[in-house]
Amino acid sequence: MKLELTKEENEMLEGKQGKATRKAMEIITTLGEIYGAEKLIPVSSVQIAGVSYHNLGEAGLEFLSEMAEDGRTRVLTTLNPAGMDMEEWKKHGISEDFALDQQRVVDTFEKMGVITTCTCTPYLIGNLPHYGEHIAWAESSAVCFSNSVIGALTNREGGPSALASALTGRTAEYGLHLPENRIAEVKYEIDTDLTETDDFGLLGHVIGGRTGRMIPYITGIRHATMEQLKSFSASVATYGGVAMFHIEGITPNRTTIPERTEVITREDLNKARATLDDEMAIIDFISVGCPHASIKEIAEIAQMLDGKQVTEGKTVWITTAKPTKDLAIKMGYYDKIERAGAFLVADACCAVAPLEGRFTGLMTDSAKACFYARGKNKFKTEIRTVAECIKEALS
Ligand code: F3S
Repeated sequence: MKLELTKEENEMLEGKQGKATRKAMEIITTLGEIYGAEKLIPVSSVQIAGVSYHNLGEAGLEFLSEMAEDGRTRVLTTLNPAGMDMEEWKKHGISEDFALDQQRVVDTFEKMGVITTCTCTPYLIGNLPHYGEHIAWAESSAVCFSNSVIGALTNREGGPSALASALTGRTAEYGLHLPENRIAEVKYEIDTDLTETDDFGLLGHVIGGRTGRMIPYITGIRHATMEQLKSFSASVATYGGVAMFHIEGITPNRTTIPERTEVITREDLNKARATLDDEMAIIDFISVGCPHASIKEIAEIAQMLDGKQVTEGKTVWITTAKPTKDLAIKMGYYDKIERAGAFLVADACCAVAPLEGRFTGLMTDSAKACFYARGKNKFKTEIRTVAECIKEALS
């Protein structure tokens, strides 16, 4: 089946709308051909990943700079976390050299018209698509959240393909843009109460591990907050590559219900916890806010830290989006957190900041953060509730 292009799309491909647009269209049409798409479709929102200079390096920045010569975004486009808080990086121990390079990356995106607040929860700060809207998002946790909880439609884009969609306003119609590919394939019955974000992360670990890339249909969860669903989205995408799920009575997409059912018990979650808890971990780093913390989470943490003091030798990062940090400043939460000796870090997270060698053990409520702390930074890990993380910071 040949990929049909409109007159405007052909013009983009022929370079009539500039060099960067041509390159972007080449990326999109190549992907379309590989995946058997018949046409391109407009997207209304883009989320770009691969922003930290730590991951991008000079080669990545060179590609971006070329695209920024004449490439400009055509739709609302936001950025994933960078390697540092773009304003308060110095007090978080980030080097001047890294800060300069990171600033160059963000400036390059800004030149293209990308909104340069750096967060993996763009849906909390104004990049919020509606049900049924076609979008092109990178960042696996946000992809999973938007497909499943919001009901928007996106494939799991990479950094270059998301940028290509931003510069053309198009994506190829394949995969999760087609309703027939959004049907549940395996059913899980949850036979235990899930209470905190760490529980939802552990559930994502179990389901991701069992289901791989298949779409799960989950029953037995009576209630879940937005914060718990973002934790689950991050974890199930990390441990299994899942880009979409259904939770009975909670998520909005329609699907047929698979017959084959597997039961998940508290024992399964305990086993998942055991695999994320390293023996003899010496905790010197506590990080909450993966995915980026909501204002509700920050308010609760500020309350827990109010009037207390983080123990010497421990570093605490609460990571969030810049607009959420600004709101936390206005509400006095920032002062309570920082007076206690913890940091409210905007724009960055413990996985993409250059932290290797600075700490030995991470405690977090996020199963995804455990994955990257181990794999990238060689930290030992422990997963606990947010309250337990804060208690550890103060003990
Ligand atoms: Fe977001 Fe970083 Fe976690 S990008 S999902 S806070 S690893």
